[in-house]
Amino acid sequence: MVIKNVCLETVCGITSVLPENTLPEIAFAGKSNVGKSSLINALMNRKALARTSATPGKTQTINFYNINEQLYLVDLPGYGYAKVSAKEKEKWGKLIERYLHGSKQLKAIFLLIDVRHDPSANDQMMYRWIVEQGFQPIIIATKLDKLKRSQIDKHLKAVRQGLGVLPGTKIIGFSSVTKQGREEIWNLAEEKCLL
Ligand code: GTP
Ligand code: MG
Repeated sequence: MVIKNVCLETVCGITSVLPENTLPEIAFAGKSNVGKSSLINALMNRKALARTSATPGKTQTINFYNINEQLYLVDLPGYGYAKVSAKEKEKWGKLIERYLHGSKQLKAIFLLIDVRHDPSANDQMMYRWIVEQGFQPIIIATKLDKLKRSQIDKHLKAVRQGLGVLPGTKIIGFSSVTKQGREEIWNLAEEKCLL
């Protein structure tokens, strides 16, 4: 994908009406701090258009980035953020659910997992839930640069097993530091959007 122009077009909070877009959408889900916003920046060749933070819970809205008037990259709030009240968590969960369930243009969901850690119960739940919505999530194992090369295969296998993914599920290793995996993710996104 040649990036010509990108803009943050729509920001939706818990009470927002979600947009009825006509362009295809690709969504990025995953635990707080796993690197969703960093991945979106890397895909857009931008350093900080999507706000990132070392403190989990940075993205609290659903953000739609318009790419070249061709498609949207959709940044979702992270789940499993411990410091948020149960009530707040439920509201975010409902917002994410409303979007994933209701969007007519959603073509693919990428589920991000930190490659260093075994998937959590929340990750497993999210994976199953996405499958129940009729999607075959593509898994992105993030922060690959934090592992030694010799450890990577073992950890990718642990992610696959920990989620109990369906046969044929793609797992792509990614690092927003080295940009490893960026092309493969774009190729899949374009394929899913029929671009
Ligand atoms: P929420 O918005 O809170 O859900 O988090 P997020 O999933 O959007 O994570 P974000 O992109 O804000 O990244 C969280 C932290 O991890 C930041 O400090 C990033 O710099 C760091 N980070 C993200 N991706 C990578 C990566 O590939 N490698 C390394 N080393 N750090 C990363
Ligand atoms: Mg974020």
